[in-house]
Amino acid sequence: MLKTLFTKGEIDDAVKRLASCIENDFDDEEILFVCLLKGSFMFLSDLIRCIKNTSTVDFMRVSSYGTAMKSKGEVTVTKDLEESIEGKNVVIVEDIIDSGLTLKVIKELLLKRNPKSLKICALLDKRARREVEMEGDYVGLTIDDGFVVGYGIDYAEHYRNLPEICVVEKDT
Ligand code: PRP
Repeated sequence: MLKTLFTKGEIDDAVKRLASCIENDFDDEEILFVCLLKGSFMFLSDLIRCIKNTSTVDFMRVSSYGTAMKSKGEVTVTKDLEESIEGKNVVIVEDIIDSGLTLKVIKELLLKRNPKSLKICALLDKRARREVEMEGDYVGLTIDDGFVVGYGIDYAEHYRNLPEICVVEKDT
């Protein structure tokens, strides 16, 4: 059973807040948004439409969950960026920080490629589940433990198309 956690309106407000913070920090500098697939595609598309800076986008596919509800504790890059990030202002766009493992690995990997700056923008932060030290630079909404779906986030590849963010509850 699905229970709505954040409506489309609440998500829109959070996205606008994040976009405004990013615009303020970067003035009129160019930004490269790195979208971590698949879960962040919807967030990225809404976020960048709220940002006036000259921008480019690139995509990276990282797998850490498979189809199970629990993290495997492994992070695999299955699709790398197509463009160099050297000397660029990079903002990683992530749907959710959970254990923090995905972003820890990706941040270390991208820092080795010498960007001008590297920031993390996450829509959701599930702090209670953190296993490694990892802080988002721009965080939209903090959530409790519990499995969420919708707005790009899946359970076994389903529910990504929901316009709101829901918690999956066990049927009683
Ligand atoms: C999910 C989510 C984050 C990551 C967060 O991705 O989209 O990228 O896990 O978990 P962590 O903080 O514990 O590493 P997933 O691997 O399920 O792939 P998907 O985005 O394609 O659904």
